[in-house]
Amino acid sequence: MKFYNRERELNYLKTYVQLEPNSILFVYGPKSSGKTTVILRVIEELSKRDDLIFFYYDLREYATPTKEEFLKIFFEKGDKKYLLNKLEINLGVFKFGVEENINFNNLSLNDVFTKMKESIKEVIKDGKKPILIIDELQKLKNIYFNGGKSLLNELFNLFIHLTKVRHLCHVICLTSDTLFIEEIYRNSTLKNASEYYLIDWLEKKTIKEILKEEGFNEDEINYCLNYLSLPYEISQLINNKKLGLSVKETIKQWINIEKDGLMFLIANMPDELDENKIYEILNKFRDKIKVEDYEIIKRELIKEFKFLVENEILFYDVVNGIIKPTSIIEWHAINEIIERA
Ligand SMILES: Nc1ncnc2c1ncn2[C@@H]1O[C@H](COP(=O)(O)OP(=O)(O)OP(=O)(O)O)[C@@H](O)[C@H]1O
Ligand SMILES: [Mg+2]
Repeated sequence: MKFYNRERELNYLKTYVQLEPNSILFVYGPKSSGKTTVILRVIEELSKRDDLIFFYYDLREYATPTKEEFLKIFFEKGDKKYLLNKLEINLGVFKFGVEENINFNNLSLNDVFTKMKESIKEVIKDGKKPILIIDELQKLKNIYFNGGKSLLNELFNLFIHLTKVRHLCHVICLTSDTLFIEEIYRNSTLKNASEYYLIDWLEKKTIKEILKEEGFNEDEINYCLNYLSLPYEISQLINNKKLGLSVKETIKQWINIEKDGLMFLIANMPDELDENKIYEILNKFRDKIKVEDYEIIKRELIKEFKFLVENEILFYDVVNGIIKPTSIIEWHAINEIIERA
């Protein structure tokens, strides 16, 4: 699979993991903007170095992990305090080590955190730098340990200890759930202990360069620039071209798919939501692609707004106070719908 230019993001993250840990980093961005791809690239490029130890966990593939699954994902049984993840050999990432005879069912949250800390300290003792990366962190939201303790809340305390307090280990959390980032952003425990990094749409300049390199002609490129924003759109456009579909045909199809999706979503939305309010929100995007959050986030629109964000029609960048469609294609779909309404 080809990797398209994410120079700035790669440089930022590669530099970040080599600085002294000082806060938790949350990587966020519109759906499919390439967050996972960029972080995997960082790991790929840096895990060859033997002074950096990546603990990387991707929760995407788990529906909603249970406590036992969480433990199996994060820990590996063996005689070492940290062990190569056998399922990710090519990436060269590690898991926290636990003794062979351990019974996951009997572990308390304190035991779990002690084991994580032991692993991290062992890495440091070996003269290396540990980096913990969790993709789709929000999946741990509904796991509770004995005594009803929320795993995620307690993990945040551990992460603050590891970063801001003791500077032992980098903690990078990725999420595609924008409302989750909003919760985190307003979480008082995390204030002054967290940083945010946006992986956004590709820049026009980058898209132009990639399309040129891929052999698209000037007319095609100029047409595409009004519609493309996500990396996978470019790969798909290239494939479709090989399959005999013109740029215009492909883009028209994409807009139609999104438009149908949005129409069905509105037609099937829960009764407690008001269709007029949905249109009121969508109408704000009539002649602009970005809207300041205060224009939409009002008491009377909040339910409808959250519905549009949860269903990945809109992306809410809480850090910059901006709301926009999840892609430029989505923006065109929205505009077709409001024109007809
Ligand atoms: N820089 C890139 N070059 C080429 N392809 C890319 C690039 N970034 C992302 N892609 C492709 O785009 C698709 C989505 O990427 P990815 O899963 O990394 O996005 P994401 O932001 O993590 O998405 P989600 O919000 O669903 O978690 C994948 O098919 C991936 O291969
Ligand atoms: Mg992802």
